[in-house]
Amino acid sequence: TGLTALDYGFVNTAATASKVTYIDGDEGILRYRGYPIEQLAENSTFLEVAWLLIYGELPSADELAAFDERIRRHTLLHEDLKHFFSALPHTAHPMAVISSALSALSTYYENGSSSNDPEQVELTTIRLLAKLPVIAAYAHKKSLGQAFLYPDNRLGFVDNFLRLNFGTMAEPYESNPVLTRALDRLLILHEDHEQNASTSTVRLVGSTKANLYASVSAGINALSGPLHGGANEAVLQMLAQIRDSGESVQRFVERVKNKEDGVKLMGFGHRVYKNYDPRAKLVKDSADEVLKDLGISDPMLDLAKELEQIALEDDYFKERRLYPNVDFYTGVIYKAMGFPTRMFTVLFAIGRLPGWIAHWREMNADPQTKIGRPQQLYTGSAVRDFPRR
Ligand code: CMC
Repeated sequence: TGLTALDYGFVNTAATASKVTYIDGDEGILRYRGYPIEQLAENSTFLEVAWLLIYGELPSADELAAFDERIRRHTLLHEDLKHFFSALPHTAHPMAVISSALSALSTYYENGSSSNDPEQVELTTIRLLAKLPVIAAYAHKKSLGQAFLYPDNRLGFVDNFLRLNFGTMAEPYESNPVLTRALDRLLILHEDHEQNASTSTVRLVGSTKANLYASVSAGINALSGPLHGGANEAVLQMLAQIRDSGESVQRFVERVKNKEDGVKLMGFGHRVYKNYDPRAKLVKDSADEVLKDLGISDPMLDLAKELEQIALEDDYFKERRLYPNVDFYTGVIYKAMGFPTRMFTVLFAIGRLPGWIAHWREMNADPQTKIGRPQQLYTGSAVRDFPRR
């Protein structure tokens, strides 16, 4: 039926053309709208890069100020939506909380469900950017059994988010510029990565003309898996397990190489990068800086570096061209900031949100877009008669 090639994991299939992000996996190059990731991480901010990804060009100072202001004005959640959190156990994984909360959020904006009305798409873009961080912080607060704070819209995007996570009614949140900048940079590094599993999910769901809330919620679920965004959480669990078991790093690496119990070196390897992930380089530098600035020495960082060193010199990893990816060192920084391990992938989701929105919008604006519908190679039974009874 016109099926030309079977391609498990879409290793060879381009599902779309896109102008958003360029990656050269052999050279370790990543660019958003043509701008090298290193320059953006050094000189830009999360919201400026969000604008760049979504609208295609860097904003003017006025455009950026208006964008920032609009997002600040949309941070409040409907009071009723807060009851949603009460219905969940405090042990709920925050990725499950935020994806369901986004689906729930859409019910407050039935008029926002049309994917074709540009004004509604614009409003939904702003609402998602403003409200996802608030929902994420509430998921964190819920797990701690602490009261939710209202957003303080005098604060910038990242500070507002940090305050919602770490401030309490009793104590005002003290902003720390080192942490604010470090989180801003990490969010920039996560903003887009072309047709990764979660972005492809957003596009596939969006191709049915499902709305942006539903599409992003699906993207969050795709991101949650340990082979994708969930890897940052899995890295810290792996490091903690090595530390607690007393197993030597060398022995752990041997188990990975022998594929014992399917154990993998989490935070290593990438479908596209067959060279050092450029984001991992920046994150590693940032981990050193942040911990130094905070005066923290975390044995987990030393353990991660030892693991990396051993792996990079080992033939198993060399032959397969496995290098640290973005998730290898981020957890150490998030931990130093005070986030629990289960929040790590949520931070990835907040970072990736502008990319998901940019791709959903690009797809919906493209007249070539069709509903996504992969083919299959049928390997089941031939026709047979239902038994007479
Ligand atoms: N540890 C040990 N062996 C590995 C690893 C790893 N982390 N990654 C790949 N391999 C081996 C794999 O077993 C295979 O070996 P063989 O040829 O003997 O069968 C070979 O390397 C090729 O791997 P693959 O599974 O065919 O590669 P893929 O492109 O399908 O998978 C990946 C890419 C990222 C899913 C995989 O490298 C992996 O599972 N890494 C660990 C999880 C992780 O860190 N994920 C985060 C990815 S980056 C950020 C993001 O997307 O969220």
